[in-house]
Amino acid sequence: MSEFEPLRVAIVGCGNISGAYGSSLKTKPELIKIMGAFDVMTDQAKNFVNNYGGKVYEKFEDVIADPDVEAIINLTSHHAHAEVSSKALSAGKHVHSEKPLATNREDGKKLLDLAEKNNVRLSCSPFTFLGEAQQTLRKAIHDEIIGKPLIAYAEMNWSWIEKWHPNPEGFHQPGAGPMLDVGVYPLTILTAILGPVVKALGYADILLPERTIGSGPKAGQKFMVTTPDQVIGILTFASGCIARITTNFFGYSRQGGIEFHGEKGSLIIDTAVDFKSGVSVRNIGDNDWKTVPFVLEPFAGVEWGRAMFELAESIRKGTPQRCTGQQAYHVLDICLSILDSAKKGCAVPVESTFIPPPPRY
Ligand SMILES: NC(=O)c1ccc[n+]([C@@H]2O[C@H](COP(=O)([O-])OP(=O)(O)OC[C@H]3O[C@@H](n4cnc5c(N)ncnc54)[C@H](O)[C@@H]3O)[C@@H](O)[C@H]2O)c1
Repeated sequence: MSEFEPLRVAIVGCGNISGAYGSSLKTKPELIKIMGAFDVMTDQAKNFVNNYGGKVYEKFEDVIADPDVEAIINLTSHHAHAEVSSKALSAGKHVHSEKPLATNREDGKKLLDLAEKNNVRLSCSPFTFLGEAQQTLRKAIHDEIIGKPLIAYAEMNWSWIEKWHPNPEGFHQPGAGPMLDVGVYPLTILTAILGPVVKALGYADILLPERTIGSGPKAGQKFMVTTPDQVIGILTFASGCIARITTNFFGYSRQGGIEFHGEKGSLIIDTAVDFKSGVSVRNIGDNDWKTVPFVLEPFAGVEWGRAMFELAESIRKGTPQRCTGQQAYHVLDICLSILDSAKKGCAVPVESTFIPPPPRY
């Protein structure tokens, strides 16, 4: 028997990723109840509701006016996140937003203020630091199995997004691009484990300005890339650790995951996203890598409802959730600082900070 009533949620934005959310959310009806869905393209919402239940909302205003809806899951396109989240928070709804939190600092800050003012929760992707492999990595670092971590290398080389995504233009516009779209995965893990970043140095370029859509109704259409499609950041953490993160939207890469190199050895996670990624350690003097045992039984793949399951439980129990708006804002600030630095040609301070989430183990 369930400890409490499931959190009643509505989905806003029913595109590519909504199916992964819908099917995952349906696995824990004791935690989440889908009340309905809205999309500016009504057929998308109809399709979602046919598969995952609830009703179709004809207008966004109807979603936020519905007293039965407690929380909004914002799966809209990058550039719509801030407006949708701010209206939902203003209406007194809890919000979980897909990444990035917003596309600029002003909007991001406004969301933090609105959540506080209205006494509602603001949660944001990426939630993959909650994965069992990522928690295993966290414990290994915090147990100092490689001693003090000195430097980390993260790779997020995400290939030609427009070849598989039917609606890729927004991924290549200012406010998105590879650092804000996928760099946020390792950045959220790095900051969850190492704490806040204080300085960023960036290098960024548009290397392939003209792209051709490869799938869906717009296949064959060309469009222009208007934000860097390769972004490299070098970060200094308050802890003193340094990290280099490489992101791009082209090429097939065999490099992935995150490496940590410390005083006593090296630690690697094979990917930043998969909850069952391998975690290995090699200390000074070892002849080979050793597998680090998982601290929790791993989910195979990505459990897309994970942040919502956490949020539902923490709202009902009155405890803080681990995916916070503050961390998402700090990650946004890091991404924008890397891009600012790339423009200026010198390192820039990262002004924001946050309190890292507690472990799950
Ligand atoms: N596609 C993926 O693999 C993936 C994975 C993880 C996270 N995400 C994130 O999920 C979000 C959505 O990505 P996607 O791939 O599903 O994009 P998408 O373009 O396929 O879907 C976005 C949907 O939002 C709708 N929309 C746009 N503005 C809206 C508004 N103001 N109100 C209501 N609906 C609106 C669009 O009509 C569309 O159906 C992005 O933030 C992305 O970063 C995507």
